[in-house]
Amino acid sequence: MLGLPFVVAAISSFVSLPNVEGLKLPNGAAKLPAMGYNTWNYYQCNINETLVLTTAQQMKSLGLQDAGYKYVNLDDCYSQRDRNSAGDIVEDPVKFKSGMKNLTDQIHAMGFKAGIYSDSGTNTCAGYPGSYGNEQRDADLFFGKWGFDYLKYDNCFVPSDTVTRTGIIGRYTRMRDAIISATSKFNKDIVFSLCKWGNNQVWLWGADIGHSWRTTGDIESHWWSVTDILNRNSFITQATNHYGHNDPDMLQVGNGDLTYDENKSHFTAWALLKAPLLIGTDLYKIKPEVVSILSNKELIAINQDDVVGTSIAPFKWGYNPDWTFDKDHPAQYWSGPTKDGVVFMLLNVRDTPDNLSFTLTDSPWIKNGRKYSVRDLWTHTDNGTVSGTFTAKNVPRHGVVALLLKEVGDA
Ligand code: GLA
Repeated sequence: MLGLPFVVAAISSFVSLPNVEGLKLPNGAAKLPAMGYNTWNYYQCNINETLVLTTAQQMKSLGLQDAGYKYVNLDDCYSQRDRNSAGDIVEDPVKFKSGMKNLTDQIHAMGFKAGIYSDSGTNTCAGYPGSYGNEQRDADLFFGKWGFDYLKYDNCFVPSDTVTRTGIIGRYTRMRDAIISATSKFNKDIVFSLCKWGNNQVWLWGADIGHSWRTTGDIESHWWSVTDILNRNSFITQATNHYGHNDPDMLQVGNGDLTYDENKSHFTAWALLKAPLLIGTDLYKIKPEVVSILSNKELIAINQDDVVGTSIAPFKWGYNPDWTFDKDHPAQYWSGPTKDGVVFMLLNVRDTPDNLSFTLTDSPWIKNGRKYSVRDLWTHTDNGTVSGTFTAKNVPRHGVVALLLKEVGDA
């Protein structure tokens, strides 16, 4: 009989297996999905140091830091249009007049970590300098001189050259290597977030290069965008584990025309997909109900599960036949393991309230003939035990139910 190692080696020799646990930088950064704030979804290019620092202060005052959000990240548009004569990126002297080191010092003093943004092409998407050909120089600036801890790395203005052509991933590899070197040079944890929009099947190789990778295009603050992204991500949930996460893009919770129920559904899905949770709304005008959605401790605990790193996955589509690709009606019945039981997400993708019903053992994580206790992760109540089938009654339009089931004995 052939041993398992032989079989695995034989398979690996002709199939490229994704790295199961993702990139481990020398000091083990980013085992869990990053949680924090990013300026893009709400402010786009209208950023400056006062906004960033007062937003960080709001994260504290609103209890979001205590809820686990620890990164304060800049996105595009923080720099001057051109590098200086020495070849370095220079911060915009009006928007960031006290300088980036001062900014990261203050962010750190508030107990946060700080994130910066660049691009694997010659320019960022808004036309500022990208890091192409300057990877180590920029990594040294960002993580050394400026003191950042996190890099979002975008995909605009990509030159047509041999680096790009011979390895689609070449541009990202160069920055990964620059980050690995900066990690030891500056002795700090650095998170590397690839913004590759799902191109080139990034979920197959992202874990070898970074800690998260955008699986899809830019999210917008409308329900149709949430369902579109969720639908696409429903087919690649296997790519996520500790140290390497699918990134369905930053949260729009609190933005645009998303209703209370749509915000809850969006947050639930992102948390249970083990996505990075980056808030992107105005923290001055934020409604208390939105703060409470973003602070759902029980969902965050699953997002940050340090024992089980995998995502929920659909086990039944519901509205559509299983495995249907439908941007407006993604799968409705999802489940996955956690260190504390089996988690379920039931999504009402219809435009009217509905009962959502399923046979427990249709989830691959539920054992036949056993009984489970039911914890509701939105009402925060224990709702007795269940075996056989489960029905969530009258789930609102575009609403969600999140449950944690624990095995308690025979049915
Ligand atoms: C791209 C990214 C966005 C944002 C903008 C900034 O569109 O996908 O998340 O970073 O660039 O210009």
